[in-house]
Amino acid sequence: MALALAGGLATAGAAVAATSAQTAHLRHENFEQMGDAFKRVNDELGRGSPSKAKLAADAARIQKLSAQAPSWFPKGSGKEVRPKSLTLPAVWANPTDFANKMKAFQAEAAKFPRTVTAGDMEAIKAGAKSLGGACKACHADYREKKS
Ligand code: HEC
Repeated sequence: MALALAGGLATAGAAVAATSAQTAHLRHENFEQMGDAFKRVNDELGRGSPSKAKLAADAARIQKLSAQAPSWFPKGSGKEVRPKSLTLPAVWANPTDFANKMKAFQAEAAKFPRTVTAGDMEAIKAGAKSLGGACKACHADYREKKS
């Protein structure tokens, strides 16, 4: 009985750990997608005549990911379950500040598609810059520097 119970708990524990590791891996994948989309935006803006359709597609991708992003950081999904994770423990130590940076980013990411639709190229460039600023503001405190 005691053995069966211990076995049950061990299994439950393993299931939780697998879930957190999967979450951490998915977070990485999602940020890679976000990074790729934002890089395409900046590459497109560097061209002679940027494609508004391409900009709109990537702006929408970033916005969609930004809406999900708060759910990518459950407690216990840091380096303890994914040693390669770049998420700093500060995310869980300063939850209010982290949430504020997340909200500021989401606001920029929600605004950007509308700026792209409005179509003024200078405004789009400025919008991409402030969006990038919101990425950096969070990375500065909450993402480990890549060596
Ligand atoms: C609220 C905080 C926050 C915001 C805003 C944010 N990031 Fe990140 N980003 C992180 C954290 C934390 C990681 C580390 C994830 C991990 O490895 O666990 C990360 C990782 C990344 C990575 C590396 C992928 C990886 O996990 O190794 C890229 C690329 C990236 N972010 C791009 C962006 C871009 C582009 C934006 C803005 C459009 C952005 N991020 C906005 C917190 C943020």
